[in-house]
Amino acid sequence: MLSSFARPAGAALRRSLSTSAQNNAKVAVLGASGGIGQPLSLLLKNSPLVSRLTLYDIAHTPGVGADLSHIETRAKVKGYMGPEQLPDCLKGCDVVVIPAGVPRKPGMTRDDLFNTNATIVATLATACAKHCPEAAICIIANPVNSTIPITSEVFKKQGVYNPNKIFGVTTLDIVRANTFVAELKGLDPARVNVPVIGGHAGKTIIPLISQCTPKVEFPEDQLTTLTGRIQEAGTEVVKAKAGAGSATLSMAYAGARFVFSVVDAMNGKEGVVECSFVRSEETECSYFSTPLLLGKKGIEKNLGIGKVSPFEEKMIAEAIPELKASIKKGEDFVKNMK
Ligand SMILES: NC(=O)c1ccc[n+]([C@@H]2O[C@H](COP(=O)([O-])OP(=O)(O)OC[C@H]3O[C@@H](n4cnc5c(N)ncnc54)[C@H](O)[C@@H]3O)[C@@H](O)[C@H]2O)c1
Repeated sequence: MLSSFARPAGAALRRSLSTSAQNNAKVAVLGASGGIGQPLSLLLKNSPLVSRLTLYDIAHTPGVGADLSHIETRAKVKGYMGPEQLPDCLKGCDVVVIPAGVPRKPGMTRDDLFNTNATIVATLATACAKHCPEAAICIIANPVNSTIPITSEVFKKQGVYNPNKIFGVTTLDIVRANTFVAELKGLDPARVNVPVIGGHAGKTIIPLISQCTPKVEFPEDQLTTLTGRIQEAGTEVVKAKAGAGSATLSMAYAGARFVFSVVDAMNGKEGVVECSFVRSEETECSYFSTPLLLGKKGIEKNLGIGKVSPFEEKMIAEAIPELKASIKKGEDFVKNMK
């Protein structure tokens, strides 16, 4: 079933860098001065899909904005700094991407970021709900398994909730899975598509190697090692950066790929599929990542989990308690917010 939509998803980034399609998406990046925010903003500025790029952060956005604004592409760029400038950054936006928040240091889990990032995401989501309630909201800030429930609860509180437009960006897990499978099998990574479902933390990251296109097979021990590497790939980068943060460049690529897919679908392109952590009825968790067919109004159809192997079935069952706890933690945070 999935294979009819398979891949090309990842082609979105390359496509938007190489075609002359003229489109008019107004995109905001919140946390634009950060490790992810800057290269992500560069990729967005480089795209003909984007006509206006507004950059918000609590520091350095005038400089980042001035720098990017000299690039000879059509997107008009402006930097906004501090909460009083946030409304103007958001007004009229079609898509808002949020990489604001602290990243992991060695030894930390994504959940360890909760205390700091929950407040940041709730504050920014409240501003989005007030100033661009119709925009597609793409959350990169971790822990994604909690920040999506937080964003959803904030939008509900403001009376503007649309579950089809709130996305947890898990694209980096798919990008990594495609790369690692291609390395092992000597394939072109651009032609590999591994759906990754569940959530975005450790064991909740569930690569469906059995649904990979082209079809690939691994002996059991290699499959276990490969799955573990995909689940811990973020930690691989955190360790290698040795205290200087987590994935930023690959995340910027993945974030841009996701935004371009959302914009392509909004522009009427058919058959655009991305996995994302969203409100879901596919399992007993109220949020879950599965492949989604995107359309003009956000999620057009949830394509579901599809046929999985016993190995994958077991991973799904094991992920559910952790996912439920992270979702509840996010929801409770907003309930207790003043
Ligand atoms: N979804 C994923 O796959 C994925 C992958 C990597 C990192 N992340 C997450 O992305 C987030 C950002 O990572 P990074 O490496 O860019 O961090 P960073 O520290 O380099 O940048 C974060 C930026 O957010 C800004 N910021 C802080 N509070 C803010 C606020 N209230 N409003 C606006 N901006 C604010 C900071 O000034 C900074 O510029 C982290 O939470 C990290 O865990 C997610």
